Amino acid sequence: MDAAARPEDEINRLRQQIRHHERLYYIENSPAISDAEFDYMMRRLAELEEQHPPLASADSPTRRVGGQPAEEFTPVRHNPALPMLSLDNAYSLAELGKFHQRVVKNLGHEKFQYTVEPKIDGLSVSLIYEKGALTLGATRGDGTTGEDVTANVRTIRSVPLVVEHGATPARFEVRGEVYIHRDAFERINEKREEEGQAPFANPRNCAAGSLRLLDSRITAARPLDIFLYALYITDDQGRPLEHPATATQSGAVEFMAALGFRTPDIHLCPGLDQVKEAIAGFGARRDLLDYEIDGVVVKVDSARLQTELGATSKFPRWAIAYKYAAVQAQTKLLDIQVQVGRTGALTPVAILAPVSLSGSTIARATLHNQDEIEKKDIRIGDTVLIEKGGEVIPKVVKAVEEDRAGDERKFIMPATCPVCGAVASRQEGEAVTRCTGVACPAQIKERLLHYTTRGAMDIDHAGPAIIEQLVEEGLAHDPADLYSLTVEQARGLERMAEKSAANLVKAIGASKQRPLERLVFALGIRHVGARAGAVLARHFGSMDALMAAGKEEMEKIHEIGGITAGSVALFFSQEANRRVIGKLKAAGVNMTSSQPSAGEKTLLGKQFVLTGTLASMARNEAKARIENLGGRVTSSVTKKTDYIVAGAEPGSKAEKARELGIPILEEKDLLEMLGS
Ligand code: IVH
Repeated sequence: MDAAARPEDEINRLRQQIRHHERLYYIENSPAISDAEFDYMMRRLAELEEQHPPLASADSPTRRVGGQPAEEFTPVRHNPALPMLSLDNAYSLAELGKFHQRVVKNLGHEKFQYTVEPKIDGLSVSLIYEKGALTLGATRGDGTTGEDVTANVRTIRSVPLVVEHGATPARFEVRGEVYIHRDAFERINEKREEEGQAPFANPRNCAAGSLRLLDSRITAARPLDIFLYALYITDDQGRPLEHPATATQSGAVEFMAALGFRTPDIHLCPGLDQVKEAIAGFGARRDLLDYEIDGVVVKVDSARLQTELGATSKFPRWAIAYKYAAVQAQTKLLDIQVQVGRTGALTPVAILAPVSLSGSTIARATLHNQDEIEKKDIRIGDTVLIEKGGEVIPKVVKAVEEDRAGDERKFIMPATCPVCGAVASRQEGEAVTRCTGVACPAQIKERLLHYTTRGAMDIDHAGPAIIEQLVEEGLAHDPADLYSLTVEQARGLERMAEKSAANLVKAIGASKQRPLERLVFALGIRHVGARAGAVLARHFGSMDALMAAGKEEMEKIHEIGGITAGSVALFFSQEANRRVIGKLKAAGVNMTSSQPSAGEKTLLGKQFVLTGTLASMARNEAKARIENLGGRVTSSVTKKTDYIVAGAEPGSKAEKARELGIPILEEKDLLEMLGS
């Protein structure tokens, strides 16, 4: 029997693939497939699990709302009564029709209205207002726990810091989407490219990256925007209250607009026909908007009926996202060129007869790799269909075979690197062909550029033109060479004035102070993104400890998988790489983490409960500092609790601790434990 035909095999394979791609997306920040491909896998898995209930499993990716919260920001638990759910998708009017039938069937009548709102592809956030003031801004995270990004949310000009309105409820939560305007996104990317940094793939990544910057000053310089599409009025315990403003979705949006929030353009539709009209209307205006919408959200208007319909563990049953098809165009494929990346990957790029697509002129598109070209049977000279979703680089969907004249040529991956001439090889089981030349200038340039980017060593003034010259003049072969560059030498480069030469050398010098977290990422080890770099640096604390660690030791770290561990171990086992580290050390580059290492985790395994108000720091800060040293902070006192920290006016928790004989610490004891 064909293995793929067995549902359990397909389910297992899908779960594995989805977990892998979730990891790439959420943890390593380097998605390898499009959202549409990912959505498709999820849908297929959900469908199979539904068809075979005994094969369902609590740890399936379908049972999880989203990604895991990152550790750099303080985690925030969302109101347990109101988890931040995701939306089911409809990719056609037929699927929308099915959604409508389900709603009618569940309600048992058709006496309800829908609302239709644009669906902006950004990132969802929750904002809490107490007594009219913004007290918390949090990302969605996994739907249950997000991250405290209040400082960054406050920088968004359209977020009111206080609301004043006659009937403002004492405590309420609004939820919406943070996004970036098309022109701002393009400006940011142009600047990044000028500075030699990798451009953001799409506006969503740009908005998400900007909202999750640890330095809110940088966020403030990014023109983020928000629209709010949900309102919950609660008591001070977070229990949802009934309120006329939240009786309907359309009313809630109107109320939020009255409070001074930016809200979506919302259409109230008495039936499915009007919903379809509204969808067509938004679709027609889509290109004229200065932000990207990837669809619309259709919601049952009445809150009472929403409650009646309820939700699955992932989606509300009263709403659906209708997704527009990607924009496509046809053009001639003039040539296929091969680009060499930082890790030596040879990537085929389609050179196209320029064509206009959703407002921009497209002349290049990615073809990913040789297999992809063969699978799609794309030939040089073909008329091809290209598609642009939210991505910066459009992709070639297929060749228009009917248009073939017969003189089209098949693409053959070169056997040698087009830049350095070294042998190009493809490992078994891999889709990518790589240049094997250790001294390949293309790889050297890409590696150096990566080393200097923001997020890595953040060296200002070292754009692609400079790096190119440094490599060509033989002034830099590896990142460590940057540190021996003199002002004299820099001045000798083309278009380099005295002052810029001094600035460049100064910026390179300043990068010596960056923490190990950045350096590990900057080395450009395969499979090590910014997140994995930080995790490794924090765990080991120093470059020496990291270099001495074996694959097995690294694999034990939560968040580091076998492939990453293997790649890091391989990297450090190579003499050439160890030599570069030696040179970096000799140049005075910092080799230690900014965070305590595992060995310094003095509170490892200890459970704390905080009660009352602390004088010297906010509760969130205390929690973060305890966690930093390996401890855990929980909210209720149990036999497992090691310490209670009692601030001013401690509550009943201190009493319970006394009953259980758990030590009660004063604030000064905690400060001592935290080493301050
Ligand atoms: S309502 C319980 N309305 O789309 C329903 N979501 O794919 C919660 N989104 O996580 C979502 N525009 O981040 C809603 N007008 C809109 C939206 C919207 C964008 C996002 C939101 C959600 C995601 C689901």
